[in-house]
Amino acid sequence: MSTFVPVLPAAQLPAGCPVATSVEGRPVCVVRVEGGVYAFDDVCPHRGTPLSEGRVHGTTITCRAHTWEFDVRTGELLRLRAPACLQMRRAREHLGMIEVAA
Ligand code: FES
Repeated sequence: MSTFVPVLPAAQLPAGCPVATSVEGRPVCVVRVEGGVYAFDDVCPHRGTPLSEGRVHGTTITCRAHTWEFDVRTGELLRLRAPACLQMRRAREHLGMIEVAA
């Protein structure tokens, strides 16, 4: 069973603005899109650029380095055919905080 760790106040996560945080010392990106709050390791599976530096449109985040695009809800790589996806983490909004599973 996962333990949820509070990472930032919910008010500091506006929709469509990825935020860099960490859970147990590992970099994590959290993002709010229509339909919920999502979290994944803040490391692009291509060459490691922090995805929190990317841009979000709808439910897609685009890595700033080489424009790979991922679905923030599933971690799926979009458009390209490559064996890569985001390492997703469970996330939730709880009692005014954004929490991510450790
Ligand atoms: S490092 Fe993210 S697309 Fe290349």
